[in-house]
Amino acid sequence: MTPPRPSSTNPPGCLRDAVDACVFDAYGTVFDLGSAFARCRDSLGNKVGPLLAMWRSKQTTYTWLRSLMGEHVDFWHVTGNSLDSAMAAMGIRGDALRSRLMSVWFRLDAFPEVKKVLPGLRKAGLKTAILSNGSPTMLTAAVRSAGLHDLLSHVISVDAANVFKPHPQAYQFGVDQLNLPPEKICFVASDPCDAAAATSFGFRTVWLNRDRRPPEHLPRRPEFEIGSVKELPALLGI
Ligand code: LAC
Repeated sequence: MTPPRPSSTNPPGCLRDAVDACVFDAYGTVFDLGSAFARCRDSLGNKVGPLLAMWRSKQTTYTWLRSLMGEHVDFWHVTGNSLDSAMAAMGIRGDALRSRLMSVWFRLDAFPEVKKVLPGLRKAGLKTAILSNGSPTMLTAAVRSAGLHDLLSHVISVDAANVFKPHPQAYQFGVDQLNLPPEKICFVASDPCDAAAATSFGFRTVWLNRDRRPPEHLPRRPEFEIGSVKELPALLGI
């Protein structure tokens, strides 16, 4: 089992010349959901945090179950189903509020350090991509609202694969779109389960552990761990 390296022991340049693409998970890795949904505090008060946490947890669980059940629908549908469940569980009602919460997924900001690091990755000759469960329309809107359209060579929704990450076929879809072997792809995710499954699939993996959470106990662990995207250029040797 590959233990994750705390960021302080990731020797600089350990991925130098080893990969041809740097691929990012979208929500929570590239896009800052917390700040986006905080804009709904006027309608939800201090329920906004707990609602988002329950919503994201159900959204993730529903994607896992649908892939296991072979009952694929797009991420927009899953996002609506999981919101309905979370709102009911918390006794929150209102069609107008539901529409407002769903619309937030089309107007997201990128974490500032992501926008700062992407140009250098491209200048170094790396393909830069998003590989996400998000539906194509959700990702297109979010990339444009965040001003990332000129910084990414690929925006890949796994929706056409008819499964969600962390199913191996979802990662394989990214390999096919990038036309690179898995070992030539550095995959960065803030969700340790996504990073662990991507490691098992064969990507070179980086867990973006901004909150310094303890590692998950899964069969494979991310190869590297960083606390900020700012550490990525050094890891890639650029
Ligand atoms: C994604 C979610 C899982 O972007 O963060 O795929």
